[in-house]
Amino acid sequence: MDLSGRHLLSLKDYTPEEIRYLLDESKKFKADFKAYKRNRVLDGFTLGMIFQKKSTRTRVSTETAMFFLGGHALFLGQDDIQLGAGESIKDTARVLSRMVDGILARVYAHEDVDILSKNSSIPVINALSDKYHPLQILADLLTIEEHKGKLAGLKLAWVGDGNNVCNSLLIGCAKMGMNMSVATPKGYEPSEEIVELAKDIAEDNGVKIIISNDPVAVVTNADVVVTDTFVSMGEEAEAEKKLALFKKYVITKELVTNAKSNYIFMHCLPYKHKEATEEVFESENSVVFDEAENRLHTVMAVLASLMG
Ligand code: CP
Ligand code: NVA
Repeated sequence: MDLSGRHLLSLKDYTPEEIRYLLDESKKFKADFKAYKRNRVLDGFTLGMIFQKKSTRTRVSTETAMFFLGGHALFLGQDDIQLGAGESIKDTARVLSRMVDGILARVYAHEDVDILSKNSSIPVINALSDKYHPLQILADLLTIEEHKGKLAGLKLAWVGDGNNVCNSLLIGCAKMGMNMSVATPKGYEPSEEIVELAKDIAEDNGVKIIISNDPVAVVTNADVVVTDTFVSMGEEAEAEKKLALFKKYVITKELVTNAKSNYIFMHCLPYKHKEATEEVFESENSVVFDEAENRLHTVMAVLASLMG
C-alpha cells in the first residue's frame, strides 16, 4: 500500500484498510527491533517538529523513530522559531517545505494543522490539536489488539472528558468495527459533528456509538475502559471548576467491577489529576505503559509510510 506524501491530520481521512496497514507495519517494526537499524528508509530525510505545547511521549517517540529510520528530527519549540514571534503558520509551512521532508505539529487550534497542510508540499502529521490526536489512537488500537487478539466487536468505554483523544477514539473505533460508549459530565460531551460522523461510520460497520452522562451504564460489560486527563493543555484556568465537576467520573475499583473481568484499563498519559484511582492505574488490568511504548512502534510505521 502506498501512503507516501499523505498528510495525517485525523484518522477520518484514512480507510479501515489503511489503518490496518499502519497497524500491521507497526507490528513488523515492533517484532524485529533490529530491523529498525537495517531499515534506514528515511536515510537523509529530516522532520521538522513544531511544538506549541509540552510533550514527553510524542516528542521522544518521534525523535527516536527518526533516528532509528536513519533520518533526523528537528525540535522546533514555539518560542525557538519565528512562529512564536509573529511569523504566520502559512509562511512557516512554505519555508519548511523547502528545507525538510515532513512536518509534525502539536498545536492549540486544529485550524493551524489544516493551514500547515494546505501550504506544505510535504506530509504534515498532527501531533495533537484541540480536536484530534491520531497518533495516540494508532497506538491505542495496537495495544487493544495485542491484549484482546482482535478489535472488531469489542466494547470500549470512555469515562471522563469528551476531548481531543475521545474524538479521535470515536473515529478510530467506528472505523475498526468497535462499539464505543462515552460518559462525560453534562456539557463536556465530545463534539457533535464528530459524534455524528462516528455514528454513521459505526452504522456501516454494524457497531454502536453511545453518548451518555452515566459512567456505570457505559462501563457495563466493557472490554476496554479508557480515560484521559480532566484538564487538557490550554485549559489550566478551568482546572478547579472541571476537577470539581468530574469527581463522579473518576475510574474507581468499584466502577470497573461493572466491566468484563478481563477488561483492560488505558490512559494516554500523562496521568496528572487522579482521573483513575491509583488502585486501578497500578492494577494488573492496566496496560498504560504498553500503550505508551506503542507510540514508538506506531509512529515508526507512520513516518516510514508517509515520508518514505
Ligand atoms: N500521550 C501523549 O501524547 O503524551 P505527551 O503529551 O507526553 O506527548
Ligand atoms: N487531552 C490531553 C492529551 C494529552 C496527551 C491534552 O490535550 O492535553
